[in-house]
Amino acid sequence: MRRYISDLKDLVGQTIELKGWAYQVRSSGKVKFLELRDGTGIVSCIFFRGECEDSAFDNFEQITQECSLSLVGVVRQHPKQAGVFEIGAKSMEIIGKSSDYPISPKDHGTDFLMENRHLWLRSKRQHAILRVRHEIISAIRDFFDGRGFTLTDAPIFTPSACEGTSNLFETKFFDEKMYLSQSGQLYMEATAAALGKVYCFGPTFRAEKSKTRRHLIEFWMVEPEVAFNDMYDNMELAEQFVEYVVQRTLKNKSEELKSLERDFSKLECIKGPFPRLHYRDAAEMVKKENPEFIIGDDFGAADETIIGAKYERPVFVHHYPAAVKAFYMKEDPKDPGYAMGCDLLAPEGYGEMIGGGQREDNLEILHRKIKEHGLREEDFRWYNDLRKYGSFPHSGFGLGLERTVGWICGLPHVRETIPFPRLYGRSYP
Ligand code: 4AD
Ligand code: MG
Repeated sequence: MRRYISDLKDLVGQTIELKGWAYQVRSSGKVKFLELRDGTGIVSCIFFRGECEDSAFDNFEQITQECSLSLVGVVRQHPKQAGVFEIGAKSMEIIGKSSDYPISPKDHGTDFLMENRHLWLRSKRQHAILRVRHEIISAIRDFFDGRGFTLTDAPIFTPSACEGTSNLFETKFFDEKMYLSQSGQLYMEATAAALGKVYCFGPTFRAEKSKTRRHLIEFWMVEPEVAFNDMYDNMELAEQFVEYVVQRTLKNKSEELKSLERDFSKLECIKGPFPRLHYRDAAEMVKKENPEFIIGDDFGAADETIIGAKYERPVFVHHYPAAVKAFYMKEDPKDPGYAMGCDLLAPEGYGEMIGGGQREDNLEILHRKIKEHGLREEDFRWYNDLRKYGSFPHSGFGLGLERTVGWICGLPHVRETIPFPRLYGRSYP
């Protein structure tokens, strides 16, 4: 009966069948070793002449890296390592050949690996990262689902810009000009008026011609929106959310994080309350270390690193100058010129994980902002309706999934955090 490597602990002493791919092979005289992987794990299979069928022993040389095969053998406890199991091979049959597999255990350059991303995914390190990504996605969903939020996903084709017009992907919707969504936020504001607590979780697009370790062209974002939450409620929600996601991933994916050599102490301390800084204080902090920084400007990646490095926990920066933020941000009537936006910056140089804040709920001010940002009033008719019919204070945020995966895994670049990354200069495979 076919079994999976993840279930071996319950099968000790039994003869079972495994199907998978050859991860590594090596032989020394009378004993031959196969590292077999089946997607659930990797196990050592030992071919010992006399113990296995002669044909299996003789055909061992045909096993090449990444060929697929079926193997029958006895499950044994590893003689030295507790909790590790091995297979005493009895018979083996090759299913699909593999010759000259391009990725060998030696080091390859990043370009080569990216060009072969479809195969690179078969490597141990990539398994670990993708499993952590999956856990983070489940944690995100469980957090909101467990708190009475309704998932109301936003469209990808959108007639209007949410995050400024400079990085919009233009496309066609039959004869109409359309854009690929930069954010589902505006639509969440509509569904929040219908259902109170909502979120969307899907791919978003930014045509940014920059090659940095934090930017993807296509990335996944989770965006909660809550009716009657102000900016402070919003930070509280974001804080509980980030703590939950990090702590749960640490608990459920410790093996994977260990294999990625993640420093656990850096994640164990990710617990609320997170420090909160007014933009003015953050800007002064930056100015001390980066004299070129102009107070009033938005922070660049290096500036975010300066702020993030001051704390071991993520830090909120709130009340950014309204001029550097999106049209929909509510300006604080008690702090004119500053918008009630709040970003969350991660420690260890990972930069902005979350962008969000309180939305403008006054129709007249919104009209003015739309005009000031050079946007077409016509495109925002429906958005303005939300202020016309029972306007309500509301807030929300967006957390970038890939940046979060990169931070939790401790990766140097965002390109390994998504199965098939779209980067400036890379759209294959
Ligand atoms: O700060 P951003 O642009 O905010 C918004 O889109 C809001 N409309 C969200 C909201 O309030 N509902 O993006 C939010 C987050 C960033 O903090 C970052 O984590 C991620 O999305 N992000 C990117 N991740 C990878 N590559 C990019 N090019 C990203 N741009 C933003
Ligand atoms: Mg932002």
